[in-house]
Amino acid sequence: MSVVNFYKKDQQVPLEMHKVRVVQKLFLPNVEERVAKIREAGNNTFLLQNKDVFMDMLTDSGVNAMSDNQVAASMQADDSYAGSETYNRLVSALKTVFKTEYFLPAHQGRACENILAESFVKPGDVVPMNFHFTTTKAHITRMGGRVEELVTKAGLDPDYIHPFKGNFDIERLKALIAEVGAEHIPFVRIEAGTNLIGGQPLSMENMLEVAQVCRENGIMSVLDASLLQDNLYFIKTREEAAKDMSIKEITHKIADAMDLIYFSSRKLGFSRGGGIVSNNNDLIMKMKELIPLFEGFLTYGGMEVRAMEAMAVGLLETMDEEIINQGPQFIEYLVKELDEYGVPMVKPAGGLGAHINASAFLPDMPHDQYPAGALAAALYIAGGIRGMERGSISEQRNEDGTENYAELELLRLACPRRVFTLSQIKYCADRVKWLYDNRHLIGGLKWKDEPQVLRFFSGRLEAIGDWQDKLAAKFREDFGDSL
Ligand code: F0G
Repeated sequence: MSVVNFYKKDQQVPLEMHKVRVVQKLFLPNVEERVAKIREAGNNTFLLQNKDVFMDMLTDSGVNAMSDNQVAASMQADDSYAGSETYNRLVSALKTVFKTEYFLPAHQGRACENILAESFVKPGDVVPMNFHFTTTKAHITRMGGRVEELVTKAGLDPDYIHPFKGNFDIERLKALIAEVGAEHIPFVRIEAGTNLIGGQPLSMENMLEVAQVCRENGIMSVLDASLLQDNLYFIKTREEAAKDMSIKEITHKIADAMDLIYFSSRKLGFSRGGGIVSNNNDLIMKMKELIPLFEGFLTYGGMEVRAMEAMAVGLLETMDEEIINQGPQFIEYLVKELDEYGVPMVKPAGGLGAHINASAFLPDMPHDQYPAGALAAALYIAGGIRGMERGSISEQRNEDGTENYAELELLRLACPRRVFTLSQIKYCADRVKWLYDNRHLIGGLKWKDEPQVLRFFSGRLEAIGDWQDKLAAKFREDFGDSL
């Protein structure tokens, strides 16, 4: 990876290896308007209107900036229903990246999860994984299966410093297989990197070990490669064994060990869409019929052909270290700024975004007032910044209706690739610091309208008391007539 050192070492910042050629104007409502907007949105950042958001850090899904080559490729898309050249170009890019023969297209990552769950999960089955993702778990439980999380203890400790906190605990995986029996385990899912525990990566060594345990027990290994881009960067920069390997060689080594790989291209490859790849035709045949049923014909799977062309180019660009380093380096900068100020962050910095440990930010707030959700609402008031609650609101209730509190209450500040400038990242850090100094003013939330499935997407909550007005008043006091 090439290094650009600054002459003034103490002023070193991450340096973008691209220039910006298309821009979008942003608006920042004033603080009183922000209080009104977050109330209208039921204190759920998913329900804010983008026109009212200054920095959209909700997700890095489908919102990454495309390269000039991606945009150019999307102009030459072949939109014939069957036998499209776009499909052939995408298959060829996937072959270059993963060395895989077969590809089933799907409209996005969760559609792949639906196909996998429908094809392989039966009632009573157990699906081990390092950590669950919301949509993955929902599809497995919908089929009557159960998820077992086997991430190492370090993964659940925001302060524990380890380069690969997303790793599987291999001994627990072996013990689980012995306990429930390989016949009740349709597959082991490897999420590289993790989403809900702060974008923490897995080492190449750990992934290969998991695949080996799967092989020894006749269990299918499935890689969720949605967040692989950042994970590859961390393997390259943090793992001794990969130091002299190219990103492509690392990818091939991991892909070779897996039976199936699926991905959301809204993340991997800076585009939209998704799909499943494999070299095992028997496995592909078990899922193939479901594609035309749920997604679309086998050469587009519900995707727009322009997105498929952009995906093909984006996947190839993912093999370029100078392209994939921008996200992790900006995230590291933001985490360092906040950590040095004393804001409790998930450390070390991972992929996807910076993650604030809301339980430590608001230590006195009871779990049932949703600290991560309250912090998300407060940060929107503080700076028009839209983060995402990744805590108990993002969990499903237990079958008996009791709360299933999340192991980590996090506020995620996603860093979409090549979208923000460093001054915007600095602004974000500044507003979080102000909020941290005024954390005693932040109060809790309670449900007003709670959907049963994936409640975090559309549920509405209200503030307990008038803390939001008080926070806005303090903002006025400190910032005067500044937006
Ligand atoms: N797997 C992982 C690890 C993900 O992060 C996501 C999506 C999916 C699967 C599902 O993919 O959205 O294309 O259906 N994560 C998004 C996020 C939603 O904001 O973190 P999808």
